[in-house]
Order: sequence, then C-alpha cells, then structure tokens
Amino acid sequence: MACKIFTFLLLSIAFTRFLTPATSQWLARLLGNQGEWEFLRTSIGISAMHMQLLSNNKVVIFDRTDFGSSNLSLSDGRCRIDPSDSILRTDCSAHSVMYDTQTNTIRPLMVQTDTWCSSGAVLPNGTLIQTGGFNDGDHVLRKIVPCEDDEGCDWTEVPGYLLHRRWYATNQILPDGRIIVIGGRRQFNYEFYPKQFPSPNNFLNFLRETTDENENNLYPFVHLLPDGNLLLFANTRAIVFNYIQNRVIRSLPPIPGNEPRNYPSSGSSVLLPLDENQPLVIEIMVCGGAPRNAYLSAVHGTYVRAVTTCGRLRISDQNPVWEMETMPLGRVMGDMLILPSGDILIINGAGSGAAGWENARNPVLRPVLYHPKEPKNSTRFWVMKPADRPRLYHSTAILLPDTKVLVGGSNPHVFYNFSGVQYPTDLSLEAFSPPYLAEGYDAIRPQILYTDDIIGYNQSFSVIFKVPKFLKLGIVSARIIAPSFTTHAFSMSQRMVVLREINGVLPVVSFGALSISVFGPSTPQIAPPGFYMLFVVHAGIPSSAVWVKVQ
Ligand SMILES: *[C@@H]1O[C@H](CO)[C@@H](O)[C@H](O)[C@H]1NC(C)=O
Ligand SMILES: *[C@@H]1O[C@H](CO)[C@@H](O)[C@H](O)[C@H]1NC(C)=O
Ligand SMILES: *[C@@H]1O[C@H](CO)[C@@H](O)[C@H](O)[C@H]1NC(C)=O
Ligand SMILES: *[C@@H]1O[C@H](CO)[C@@H](O)[C@H](O)[C@H]1NC(C)=O
Ligand SMILES: *[C@@H]1O[C@H](CO)[C@@H](O)[C@H](O)[C@H]1NC(C)=O
Repeated sequence: MACKIFTFLLLSIAFTRFLTPATSQWLARLLGNQGEWEFLRTSIGISAMHMQLLSNNKVVIFDRTDFGSSNLSLSDGRCRIDPSDSILRTDCSAHSVMYDTQTNTIRPLMVQTDTWCSSGAVLPNGTLIQTGGFNDGDHVLRKIVPCEDDEGCDWTEVPGYLLHRRWYATNQILPDGRIIVIGGRRQFNYEFYPKQFPSPNNFLNFLRETTDENENNLYPFVHLLPDGNLLLFANTRAIVFNYIQNRVIRSLPPIPGNEPRNYPSSGSSVLLPLDENQPLVIEIMVCGGAPRNAYLSAVHGTYVRAVTTCGRLRISDQNPVWEMETMPLGRVMGDMLILPSGDILIINGAGSGAAGWENARNPVLRPVLYHPKEPKNSTRFWVMKPADRPRLYHSTAILLPDTKVLVGGSNPHVFYNFSGVQYPTDLSLEAFSPPYLAEGYDAIRPQILYTDDIIGYNQSFSVIFKVPKFLKLGIVSARIIAPSFTTHAFSMSQRMVVLREINGVLPVVSFGALSISVFGPSTPQIAPPGFYMLFVVHAGIPSSAVWVKVQ
C-alpha cells in the first residue's frame, strides 16, 4: 500500500515539476523508507574480514589462515601444509573465496600464508595486489588476476617481496599506477609495488608521532588528493604528505575532542565525492571511533561508549577548520561507503568497546545515511532499518555494481566459534538496499544502455541511457566510483568523481533513449588509472553500474 502511494506521489511530482534529489529524499523520508536487508547466503564457509570487488563482478573475500579449519573445504582434495601455522599445520579448508555477485555462488581459493589484518589495492589492469598479514604472511605479496569464466584464477604468492612487515597497513593506488603501502604495526615507513630499488628514503615520522599507549593509529586513513599528495589521518591528526619527496607539505589541525579514530579505536573516513563541474572542493570526513582508553578498558571488561561525532575538513580551504557533527548513533568499527547517489553510508560496528578480540558490545544494527550536501544540523543524517546480524570486529561492507551494499563477516574470536559465545563467528553474506532502490523509484530509475569501455583523461564520451517514465527530466549526472579494498572499517582507494558535463546537454537520440556527454576525469591524480563503476544518476536515483577503464 505504502508503495503504491509512493509511486503515485512520485509520478505526480515527476509529471508536474523538475525532480531534484532533495524531492526524492523528502518523499522517501515522508513514507518511512529506511532501506531493505536481504540474506544472500547463510554461509560462505569463511568470515568476510577483507573484501575486494573485481571488474568481472566477482568479489575476493578472505579471512586468516590461523583460525583453524573453516567451514569450506578446498577443492580437489587440496590441503595447505604450513609448518608455521599456529593452529593447523595441515589445513584442508579454505580461508579465501571468490564470490560471484551474479550467481550468488562461491568458489574456494587457496591462500598459503597468513593474510590476517592485511591490505590491498587493484592495479590499473584489474589485478588485485594484496600485501602482508601476520606470521609467515607478513612480508608476502599476493596476486589474483581476474578470469572471465572464473575457472582457474587463484592466489599466487611472492614470499619475502615486501621490504617491511605489513600488518595493519593501508594501501592506495597512485596516479602512475603503482601502489603505496603505508605503515603497519611498528612500521613508521612506506613502500611501493612494484618494488623500488634502491629503496627510497621512506621513513614516516608522522606514524611514530601518532602512536599512543594503545597504538590507535593503525590502518591509517589514506586519501589521494587531486594535487597528487596524500592526505594521511592517524589517531587524531592529519597531514598532507608528498610521498615522492618524503616531505610533509601541510600539517592540518587535529580533529577536536582528542578521541582517536584509527584502529583499535576504529572510526572510518572517506574523501567526499569530487565534482568536476565546479571548482574542486576537497573535503575529507571522519566518523566514529573510540575514546583513547577504550581498548585497554575493554581488555579489562569495561566497554566504554563509542564516539558519536563526525568531522569534516575542507582541505581546499587555505585554513581549514573541522566542522563537527553528532551522529544519531555512536559507532566504533563502522564502515563508511560512498554510494552512487553521493551520500555516505555508515554501516556495521558497535556502540561500545574497541576493535580487537572480544572487545566490543552493543552492536549498532542500524546503518545511517549521510547527505553531505544538506544544510548542517537539519537532515543530513537518516537512520536506516536494522540488520538482523551483529557485524563487529572483522566485518566488512562494499558497494556492488547493482547499487546494493554487500555486508559480511564479524568474528571477534581467536577461532571460529559458532556457539557458547555472545557474538558467534558470522559466515553469512547480506545485502543492504539503500532507500534509492525502493520500487517506487523504478519509473524514474535510469538504465545505462551503452557507453565506451575505455575512457581517456579529458576525453569526451557519451553515456546512452533510458528512464522508463518522465515528463520533465530531473537532474542527470554521470559519475565513477573506484571499488574499494575494505577491511577493519576502512575502504582503501575508495573515491567518487562526478564527471564534467559538456554543455549540460541531454539530447534525445531515438526511441526514448537519452544521452549525456561528459569528459573523462581530468587527471590521474583525480582518478588514478583503472577500472571504475560508472553510474548515471537521475533525480538522485542511480542506475546500475557498467565497468569502464580509465586510462
Ligand atoms: C560450521 O561447521 C561447524 C562444524 O561442522 C558447525 O557446527 C557450524 O554450525 C557451522 N557454522 C555455520 C555458520 O555454518
Ligand atoms: C597486470 O599486471 C600484473 C603486474 O605486472 C601482472 O602480474 C598481471 O598478470 C596483469 N594482469 C592482467 C589481467 O593482465
Ligand atoms: C549545529 O549544532 C551544534 C551542536 O549540536 C551547534 O554547536 C552548532 O552551532 C550548530 N550549527 C548550526 C549551523 O546551526
Ligand atoms: C572457541 O573455539 C576454540 C576452538 O574450537 C575453543 O578452544 C575455545 O574455547 C572457543 N572459545 C570460546 C570463547 O568458546
Ligand atoms: C586535462 O585538462 C586540464 C585542463 O585543461 C589539464 O589541467 C590537465 O592536465 C589535462 N589532463 C591530462 C591528463 O592531460
């Protein structure tokens, strides 16, 4: 019933006036649309600690090798023989899977060495590079070259590739197609893939300076800025860093409140969407986290309340100041994802405690949507429908090409523990559909019919699409999103670029098809080369993605 009224209201508005994203949102709120949850699989056999979507629509998922035997056997009777594994020297179970988003099926993958708390990034040619982990895996480089039929592709490992141990490091794809690997536990330095000889001066004092008694600066937040430098955020501090010259370009003000935002006080962070249609506004956002003593308190059985604030810092200002806001729900270990609508989804995590084994309580089941463009203190935050499952330590979330959010993982235990614990190890996969997926929007939801596979920097191209029903078209834009490597509440290399429109034109081609012409991203600093999901958004409602290769 609500849905019929919704459709009716929406169509009435669509037929009488320009639909703006604000109108769509106002309607959805009015009708109590809070998104939808669905179960994809009750088990994938492992717990989704790390996830990366590849350009063949498959998701590489892995946890760690020293959890003991997982609930999924390796194929063809294979076993991993690893004398350095602390639990099982011969393990015939998988700790990684390839999840097919189109068929909802999984295939076990073979990982030889420990991938626990590691990092990764995708090369411009679509190959996943994963770095480090723990124990025998901490210097290992691993690759997955995607394959179309999904038959043979599996991990290949290069032991001893990394110069330093990388456990809790952060990776970012760079404008020249290299990957930078930053930090990790007691590693105040960075390195590159491919490896650079002779090794450069790669000391990073900022990581030493931001270490406190609970560390609280692991998995530093890293954002590639349009000037080619990196924004590094660790603990409460932020700098702009030139990794080529190993030089701090700017020290930014610390986030107010003296509450750490990085692991184990895990908050999250995004670079807000870059819009090439206007002078570039560069803004980072950091949400949630835990008070400085949260980790030690949790170890001693006291779970302190998570941080309730978000901060936004506009780096493009000469003297930026943090703009602080209060979330409707405090959260530690939340994931922040950029949705194709340009909104930020804050999902997963806990209301008290910290990251680490057994360290959190009060799962925050409700995701929150954040609209960066709404006026402050009004309607920026929007609380969504609760999930069924707690998603605590070692849970993940990523955006899928169909605009849903894939959610999995949660294992706050040293082993796979399915019973006798408060928060059992979770092997399931769920999808969260943000409000824009409501049926009521189907009439105005754009669908991409055709576009180029390869997009050049500054080169114009057209996206041909259709919108089922409209009298007057609402605002249309085309944008690209880089699929992130997500783990431990941070989505590495995640970014959105709204492409520059040419004359704002929308000529009707034929048979009701429409075309929007745009320029490819202007520089590799704005969008590093590689595969992106391209979306058309009409009146705030995104299409499904098509993959494009920016080069
Ligand atoms: C995993 O396997 C164990 C042992 O066979 C079983 O008890 C448990 O229920 C399984 N867990 C899930 C989530 O399927
Ligand atoms: C991409 O490049 C990497 C590193 O050079 C290589 O190992 C891999 O095979 C390439 N992938 C594809 C799909 O060609
Ligand atoms: C927003 O709210 C905060 C506290 O809730 C307040 O300090 C601030 O002045 C408000 N800002 C505006 C623009 O109203
Ligand atoms: C978790 O499972 C392991 C191995 O099966 C077992 O030794 C341990 O006691 C379990 N932990 C809890 C908290 O039940
Ligand atoms: C694209 O054009 C802009 C402005 O004209 C220029 O600054 C930029 O360097 C160009 N990008 C490339 C990759 O040539």
